[in-house]
Amino acid sequence: MTSQLPITAVNTITLTTPLLSIDRDVEDLTVPLLQILLKRKTIRDFSDRHLSLETLSHLLWSACGINRPEEAHRTNPSARNWQEIDVYVAMEQGLYLFDPHTFTLHLLQEKDLRAKTGTQDFVPHVPVNLIYVADLAKMEEGEMDEQAFYAALDTGFISQNVYLFCAAAGLATVVRGLLDRPELAKAMNLRPNKQIIVTQSVGYAAD
Ligand SMILES: Cc1cc2nc3c(=O)[nH]c(=O)nc-3n(C[C@H](O)[C@H](O)[C@H](O)COP(=O)(O)O)c2cc1C
Repeated sequence: MTSQLPITAVNTITLTTPLLSIDRDVEDLTVPLLQILLKRKTIRDFSDRHLSLETLSHLLWSACGINRPEEAHRTNPSARNWQEIDVYVAMEQGLYLFDPHTFTLHLLQEKDLRAKTGTQDFVPHVPVNLIYVADLAKMEEGEMDEQAFYAALDTGFISQNVYLFCAAAGLATVVRGLLDRPELAKAMNLRPNKQIIVTQSVGYAAD
């Protein structure tokens, strides 16, 4: 099934859940990991082809979806299991927040903020720009330097999950530190205890 994302923004996008059933035969999900690692790479030339809802769903589940529902643990490891990294999704139709628990995307702004997520030429036109944001309120037990260190480290795991999914699914991706964080935080109306770590573009490679 390749249902397309709605062109008009809706308040809640329910993501498709084929990977989430624990009853599903694991064989169905098996892709040779070494082959994926061989293909993992950064690509910066994107076409304007959009991702289907199914592909976006799998991408987000791979990034930091819940793989053990009984304890709400995820595909990414997390320091002290703080699970402090939120994934925001900037698309043409708006800015969304990914909720791994309900497996939905919540519309925050019906505005195209993609151009604010980075300074490179391709950024405004990539179908999906992920924004990794640390919720420092979830890390209060940690010292400030510990918070910064683990927020960056935890983001790295999520970003690598995205890289691996993209390699497996034939998508192009680039994680990006080149961005104006204060400007993006302002555009997203983020509170001061929410800290943007990096962004990551995902789409299809240009031919
Ligand atoms: C933390 C981090 C920040 C990065 N920032 C950018 C960036 O802002 N723009 C960009 O084009 N690539 C960025 N990259 C991608 C690297 O340039 C890329 O991973 C590197 O050149 C190695 O290429 P490879 O991923 O294909 O192995 C970043 C990578 C990391 C890990």
